[in-house]
Amino acid sequence: MPLLVSPAIASGALRSLPQPVLGTSLVLRPWTTADAPVVLSAFSCPDIQRWHVRTMADTDESLAWILGWPVRWDAETDASWAITSGGAVVGQVGLRTISLFEASAQVSYWVLPSARGAGIAWRAARLLSRWCFDTLQLNRLSLLHSTANLASCRVAERASFLLEGTQRKSLQHADGWHDVHVHARLRCDG
Ligand SMILES: CC(C)(COP(=O)(O)OP(=O)(O)OC[C@H]1O[C@@H](n2cnc3c(N)ncnc32)[C@H](O)[C@@H]1OP(=O)(O)O)[C@@H](O)C(=O)NCCC(=O)NCCS
Repeated sequence: MPLLVSPAIASGALRSLPQPVLGTSLVLRPWTTADAPVVLSAFSCPDIQRWHVRTMADTDESLAWILGWPVRWDAETDASWAITSGGAVVGQVGLRTISLFEASAQVSYWVLPSARGAGIAWRAARLLSRWCFDTLQLNRLSLLHSTANLASCRVAERASFLLEGTQRKSLQHADGWHDVHVHARLRCDG
């Protein structure tokens, strides 16, 4: 059936770009297979397990996780960057449920326990947002977190993602359904 609106961004716009390296002191870069042990250690962190839905048994699984990202980039559905500081991986920031048609995506992140408390997550979210708005030309980035995840709420605020409301019992974690804060930052927010 014919469409009444055009895709906001043409299909192929993401896969035609190489995944960029972003930032100077805090650097976001694509994952490499050498990162498998640090990814495995991240997924063994109880806080990361608490707020995400995936577990990881061994380096075969962390390698599969890493090798999946270029596939998702080509499919234009999701993307992930290693957050690095001084050359060392300190966390992950990424895009989920990318829709080029709607020019939107959802931001996700985690930070290794040893690197927490230094403003890594919100600075990484800001860096990625700038690229999404200025280069990819997304219109809207959303950021969803359980209302019980107070640190993530603070990250959203510091990264200039305005709180839009609460979705009741809309996200399932290992301990059951959670109410979810919806934050968003728009390209026109500046
Ligand atoms: C949430 C997370 C990414 C924050 O990363 P970070 O770079 O360490 O963030 P910071 O330590 O700089 O903390 C950000 C803010 O949260 C606050 N904060 C941290 N822990 C908190 C807690 N338990 N309750 C309330 N606020 C908290 C900090 O004080 C800081 O606020 P400030 O900037 O006003 O001082 C990290 O804790 C993490 O990886 N958690 C597990 C995975 C996760 O929750 N991912 C997000 C899923 S939506």
